[in-house]
Amino acid sequence: MLGVFDSGFGGLTVLRAIHTRLPSISTIYLGDNARAPYGTRSHEEIFQFTLDGIRELFRRGCPLVIVACNTSSAQALRQIQQTILPAEFPDRRVLGVIRPTAEEIVSMSTTGHIGVFATPATVTSGAYVREIVGANVTQIACPGLVDLIESGRERSEEVDRLVASLCDQMLAADPLIDAALLGCTHYPIVEALFAKHLGDRRVISQGTIVAEKLADYLDRHPDMAERIDQSGTRQYLTTKSDEDLSSLASRFYGETVAFIPIKTKS
Ligand code: DGL
Repeated sequence: MLGVFDSGFGGLTVLRAIHTRLPSISTIYLGDNARAPYGTRSHEEIFQFTLDGIRELFRRGCPLVIVACNTSSAQALRQIQQTILPAEFPDRRVLGVIRPTAEEIVSMSTTGHIGVFATPATVTSGAYVREIVGANVTQIACPGLVDLIESGRERSEEVDRLVASLCDQMLAADPLIDAALLGCTHYPIVEALFAKHLGDRRVISQGTIVAEKLADYLDRHPDMAERIDQSGTRQYLTTKSDEDLSSLASRFYGETVAFIPIKTKS
């Protein structure tokens, strides 16, 4: 099984693209909804929670985990890849969403000026500024947006006003921006609002980019591809027990998904 992890529902936007690109791949999704959002938490918390999620997916037999969360990718991934995997899980792999996105995005701008909307923790890490090579990058932190989306208020006036003000900040910071990345896997749910407030600029979500890069990774690593079951099994796990969760989640995935509550171990 391929493991896919996010702080909450956001990673479902990436999972959907993975299922479209690689329909027979078996997946286990884990959302740490009980502790979302991560984007306003400390580095220590994000690191520990991300590690808990990855360990859980390893325990359930995943040889490869996609961290479908920019915040975790920015704050925890490198440390996990460099210290935890070699010591404890030498035959497992964990891939994030920032590097694959950064590699592709430069070709999507003609002005060479790219905007990145992301959580405060992703912005503070500077990961996108480091990883996007060959373009001017302006980052805008969007505190509060994930909370509003996780709680199902993405169609509210409040979200429309917040996105309008974030877009104004972006364009005031760099009027030459012609491509804006939604650098948080929750934001594609409100992609239409970003598009409305950014006029004719291109708005980019990560799902298809990450899915394409995963397909390419599996082609280049047939040994890993062979270890991932291809019978199309799909499991959805969450750390939160809430009767409303599956219907909220379907907004991200595009169709109904049934979540099973679990407890992760630290
Ligand atoms: N969806 C996540 C991201 O891509 C995290 C959002 C959060 O938990 O704050 O950054």
